Amino acid sequence: MCGIVGYIGTDNNAKEVIIEGLKRLEYRGYDSAGIALHKGSVIETRKHVGEISNLEKIIGDKDFESTLGIGHTRWATHGAPSDVNSHPHSNMDNTVTVVHNGIIENYVELREWLTSEYGIKFKSDTDTEVIAHLIGIYYDGDLHKAVNRAVEDMRGAYAIGVIAADEPDKMVAVRKDAPLVAGIGEGCNFIASDIPALLKYVRKIYLIENNETVVLTKDKITIYDEKQKVVKREVFHVTWDADAAEKGGYDHFMMKEIHEQPHGLSETLNRRLNDDNTIKLDGISMTKEDIEGFNKVYIVACGTAYHAGLVGKAAIEKMAKIPVEVDIASEFRYRDPFVDDKTLFIAISQSGETLDTLAALREAKKKGARIFSVVNVVGSSIARESDDVFYTWAGPEIAVASTKAYTTQLMCMYLIALYMGHTKGVIDKEYYDMFIGELKAIPDKLQLILDKQDEIEAIAKKYKRKDDVFYIGRGVDSGVSYEGSLKLKEISYINSFAIAAGELKHGTIALIEDGTLVFALATQNFLFEKMISNIQEIKARGANVIGIAKEGNTDIETQSSEVIYIPDCIDEVTPLLSVVPLQIYAYYVAKFRGCNIDKPKNLAKSVTVE
Ligand code: M6R
Repeated sequence: MCGIVGYIGTDNNAKEVIIEGLKRLEYRGYDSAGIALHKGSVIETRKHVGEISNLEKIIGDKDFESTLGIGHTRWATHGAPSDVNSHPHSNMDNTVTVVHNGIIENYVELREWLTSEYGIKFKSDTDTEVIAHLIGIYYDGDLHKAVNRAVEDMRGAYAIGVIAADEPDKMVAVRKDAPLVAGIGEGCNFIASDIPALLKYVRKIYLIENNETVVLTKDKITIYDEKQKVVKREVFHVTWDADAAEKGGYDHFMMKEIHEQPHGLSETLNRRLNDDNTIKLDGISMTKEDIEGFNKVYIVACGTAYHAGLVGKAAIEKMAKIPVEVDIASEFRYRDPFVDDKTLFIAISQSGETLDTLAALREAKKKGARIFSVVNVVGSSIARESDDVFYTWAGPEIAVASTKAYTTQLMCMYLIALYMGHTKGVIDKEYYDMFIGELKAIPDKLQLILDKQDEIEAIAKKYKRKDDVFYIGRGVDSGVSYEGSLKLKEISYINSFAIAAGELKHGTIALIEDGTLVFALATQNFLFEKMISNIQEIKARGANVIGIAKEGNTDIETQSSEVIYIPDCIDEVTPLLSVVPLQIYAYYVAKFRGCNIDKPKNLAKSVTVE
């Protein structure tokens, strides 16, 4: 977690560049922010708990300017959010200053050693402070050398940016299992945790690989590999627009992103379809023999991406007839799963940087699986470490609560399942064409749900005080229930719980009482009657039911307090539509309750810690 930015140039604008970059990285954490500037022969650091706006209040003065600096926005891991635990951190005589994203796993051991051997007195509770002291003790006038020596002592995952008081013309950065890019300017250069932080200034980027060190001066960026050999890296030209990351008239990124779903889905679909509706794999080679050779598919992901995997499982099993297991990445990596060279491992991730997913991917790779990923961020770690990448074309997703990434992930899963099933010969041309037709119709149908925003807002207003909310469904509706529940709890802090509707009677129904709010998803025609029975059971116990059903299935009205209809479509693709009212409901409840919608407490957009 956390975001880092660094700037070295000729103009005295390090502070502006860093603050602008940090604002673009707040999705990585916003517990505190800080900035360190090189000022003559000293380093001056200012930091503040809370969002970047708090930091801005203490750095406005004209004296606090420089051509070299580093900055940080924090998601607290070691040590509570506080001014003293905020980054940057410095060594004792303030000659070396560091910003860090990640975790130093052996920091306790290093802290004890630095204290007993060098008498170092620590100011903060962070793991990061050990980095500053380590570099400090190895420093003899050459920052690059000192950083490399310090890194030898460190275990864990990190991206760090470092400056030294005695070297006003240099900045050093290192990457190990945490994202880092370097931006190429004219007479100035940059580092950052992610590309959007730099887009106001540069479009030419170096994607830094694991275990690489970067030395930056205002005119030059030199990348070194683990053995300190200079690496020649191709320049990555960013073609997407920085404005895509702005709010565009909406009050929150989340609502903007909900509304971007028709576009994101069209892009994700159309970029993969040839004129004759065959699926374009663009560089991915997956032959009939390859597909027939897979005896198992593992879909591994976290949070919302995991929920997309649940729907992906249903699609692949139905269309390609290959058994699929869906696993939470943090569990997969530690349970010695049955993976071999006949396994297709599919990682799903918006950011492409989620550490648990990345670690699971590496585990599967070690065991010989073919690694396929569904990723939104181009050039991210998961994308780079995969054999094949199927990009979602959602565009940048800024709000912590994932919306358009989820629906575009679903679109990718349908396309992958269709491709595998069709290539393998399990599904015929008629079914294939019908399915593609259904997918093509989704963006317009989704727009019809967005047009009902006011209706959903009114429902949210009515039930905004409900402190326990349940979500139930059968088949793919149960997967969507998990996602609806997660959306509500993460942004409104309401205790919500999702469960397969048929499972309710095995215990959880004990919690249903007069006035309990239950979202009942009943979009599957072949399960509709069973769902109606489940709804009756909870209604009989006094629940307020909000039904989600396809237009025309009006029988649900007699059993529900409210019904939100989605346009008619085949059962398989309803998740692309049924999740949308749940997203909008969560948004409005959070808004009515005065929550910080885009940056909910305790969360960060990109989870790069275990
Ligand atoms: O970037 P990823 O898709 O790998 O992130 C996985 C989860 O952290 C993410 O989906 C999280 O659950 C969202 N905040 C949910 O809205």
